[in-house]
Amino acid sequence: MSARSAIVLAGGLGTRLRPLTDVRPKQMLPIVDRPMIEHVVGKLAAEGAEDVVLSLGYRPDAFGAAYSAGRCGGANLRYATEPEPLGTAGAVLFAARRASAPNGNDRGDPFSETFWALNGDVLTDAVLSDLLALHRARRAEATILTVPMTDASRYGMVEADAAGRVTRFVEKPPGGDAASGWINAGVYLLEPSVLARIPAGRAVSMERETFPAVAADGALYTLRSNAYWIDAGTPRSYLQANIDLTSGRRALTLAPVSPRAAVAAGVSVIDSVVMEGAVVAAGARLEGAVVLPGGRIGAGAVVSESVVGFGAAVEPGARVRGFTLLGDGATVEAGDVVQGGRLSGSSRAR
Ligand code: GDD
Ligand code: MG
Repeated sequence: MSARSAIVLAGGLGTRLRPLTDVRPKQMLPIVDRPMIEHVVGKLAAEGAEDVVLSLGYRPDAFGAAYSAGRCGGANLRYATEPEPLGTAGAVLFAARRASAPNGNDRGDPFSETFWALNGDVLTDAVLSDLLALHRARRAEATILTVPMTDASRYGMVEADAAGRVTRFVEKPPGGDAASGWINAGVYLLEPSVLARIPAGRAVSMERETFPAVAADGALYTLRSNAYWIDAGTPRSYLQANIDLTSGRRALTLAPVSPRAAVAAGVSVIDSVVMEGAVVAAGARLEGAVVLPGGRIGAGAVVSESVVGFGAAVEPGARVRGFTLLGDGATVEAGDVVQGGRLSGSSRAR
């Protein structure tokens, strides 16, 4: 009773994570030891998905280069690259059509049966087979995972009755509406009939158009989960996603400092992640920091609640804080202070 096919949306511009996403999609940013997409696809594969179509738009080549053998996180990978952004539902339709084109195997159209669709920036320990069980039991047309959130304004707000039938779906509810509640976790099970609801040839939002229509027909259901969940698409949540995976908040806990990083003795590493090839000199202090591969922290420098990008450098005695993002190869000069900055590699910052 598994659902063996999945579409993972990974075509967004990653605007909120610039400049880290200037040269790669956010799903290719590492979370501790692997690109984000491997965590997402790995979760699907662990729950029985065998074939995953990545729905791409922005910088699609990054995926082909990383997964040239067509395998990722234990699943077979295919790609569907949109000529222009089609929105979340348009992208699902495009990917389902593209993936079912003749490709030399005889497994038929994988999207003629129940399939998964996921936002590619969502990390969760929710049990996805529970979602499938509810979907089957209710004979739902679409079933979405929801999680509790104190401020729903950044998300899709979902109201449901006791049976789990969705009565209201409001994407990015404005001001007063955005109370605490259950929000769309970006993990869906869809029947093929959902595809027929999506008009072709233009951008269509799953959250603003398709789900409200399915809900109006009484065919949209939700499973509420209190399991770990995070959308890693903002500076704050990208940092948090890394730290959570190294601090015992997840089903799996990984080492915060890569065995292939060089961290001087006595460096203070608190709630922080240091990735492979990074170098942290004596007397430095990291607190709530993430140092991407090849990042360098000079002697006595302090980095808090910030990301040091690929090959970026924080020179001796500098201070970087307040959700600063240093892009690939960016440099903060010795002794300088950066608070809440976004520095690309071309800028030597102060
Ligand atoms: N292929 C493709 N084409 N992918 C896209 C497009 C597109 O036009 N637009 C966005 N995506 C991808 C992004 O790369 C991301 O993986 C996913 O779709 C969701 O887009 P986000 O930009 O991250 O959306 P969000 O975080 O503001 O809101 C969504 O996720 C929330 C949960 O994390 C919505 O689904 C909300 O309802 C939900 O609560
Ligand atoms: Mg997101």
